[in-house]
Amino acid sequence: MKALVCNQPGEFEYSIKARPELDKGKAIIKIKRIGICGTDLHAYEGTQPFFTYPRILGHELSGLLVDFDGVQGFNGGEAVTFLPYFNCGECVACRAGKPNCCTQIQVCGVHVDGGMTEYIAVPSSSLVHGEGLSYDELALVEPLAIGAHGVKRADIKNGEFVLVIGAGPIGLGTMEFVRIAGGKTIAMDVNEHRLQFCRENLDVRHTVNAGSENVTEQLMQITNGDMPTVIIDATGNLNAINNAFQYMAHGARYVLVGLQKGDISFAHPEFHKREGTLMSSRNATRQDFEHVISCLKKKKIDPTKYITHRVKFDEVKHEFENWLNPENGVIKAMIEMPNSPI
Ligand SMILES: NC(=O)c1ccc[n+]([C@@H]2O[C@H](COP(=O)([O-])OP(=O)(O)OC[C@H]3O[C@@H](n4cnc5c(N)ncnc54)[C@H](O)[C@@H]3O)[C@@H](O)[C@H]2O)c1
Ligand SMILES: [Zn+2]
Ligand SMILES: [Zn+2]
Repeated sequence: MKALVCNQPGEFEYSIKARPELDKGKAIIKIKRIGICGTDLHAYEGTQPFFTYPRILGHELSGLLVDFDGVQGFNGGEAVTFLPYFNCGECVACRAGKPNCCTQIQVCGVHVDGGMTEYIAVPSSSLVHGEGLSYDELALVEPLAIGAHGVKRADIKNGEFVLVIGAGPIGLGTMEFVRIAGGKTIAMDVNEHRLQFCRENLDVRHTVNAGSENVTEQLMQITNGDMPTVIIDATGNLNAINNAFQYMAHGARYVLVGLQKGDISFAHPEFHKREGTLMSSRNATRQDFEHVISCLKKKKIDPTKYITHRVKFDEVKHEFENWLNPENGVIKAMIEMPNSPI
């Protein structure tokens, strides 16, 4: 079978690999779609932590279930996606029902080889039913679940203002689940095109351009002087993360979905007087995947409109570099495997 290997930063190579064979507790999936996300782009650039090379990238996946062992209720030939965060099942986080932050976590396409390949073997326990969704939708479940998990962490109350900073694919998904949870989204970004996308496609009424406007004034006006009671970072930008502490209402929660490498710093007296709550949000759980799938089935969200670029597997090596250039306006690039029906 054919696989696309990232040999080292900046270098992809198509290579022929042995097709995986069925092992105990494993499932074999014939890959149909591979969504590209920032993690893949940064891995190719060589700027992503946790990566070693050579590595087969890709963790936003959907496909056809070929064979499986160790689970009930699945059928050979059905459309599936899976939880690409393989956990140990024994550590303190796993025992506490938080496999998404397992101490030994192995993320598919990050710590172990991922889905830019014709067939992949994954733990059967990670399988998720396709439930009548398209392969495109199924490949978008994972990035949406990241936002859904952040929103769950925030525990949004009906009608409260939620500032979502960063309108990339992760931020967009986050905004959808804020709306579904009954929150009023304020979208903030420095990219006016992306803010426009939020207004036109996501029914977001309030947008703030962090680059060109007085942010505090704008937020005061939108929230009638209260400031947002929930802030969710989906930028991963250190300045954005540090700045946002000052936008917290008294009693607010601040959830970091975005991730960056440095140390966060903020004024403790400011945080103290607000009795602020700071949380990180890592990966997602099966419950988040199920929530996303249920929302997709009920047509509460249509993430296929995030797909701005679409290529066949054979063209990825050639096209990948273009997706790094912000001028090309990529929100979500989707790879189609050969001969895959819509
Ligand atoms: N929680 C998780 O497990 C998880 C999973 C996947 C991705 N992530 C993280 O989520 C973050 C977002 O991912 P993405 O793929 O949507 O990224 P992206 O780069 O496509 O989007 C980030 C957005 O933030 C905006 N931005 C940058 N600096 C800003 C600033 N100072 N103020 C306002 N906006 C600013 C950019 O213009 C861009 O639109 C990344 O940090 C990524 O590592 C976290
Ligand atoms: Zn991703
Ligand atoms: Zn564990």
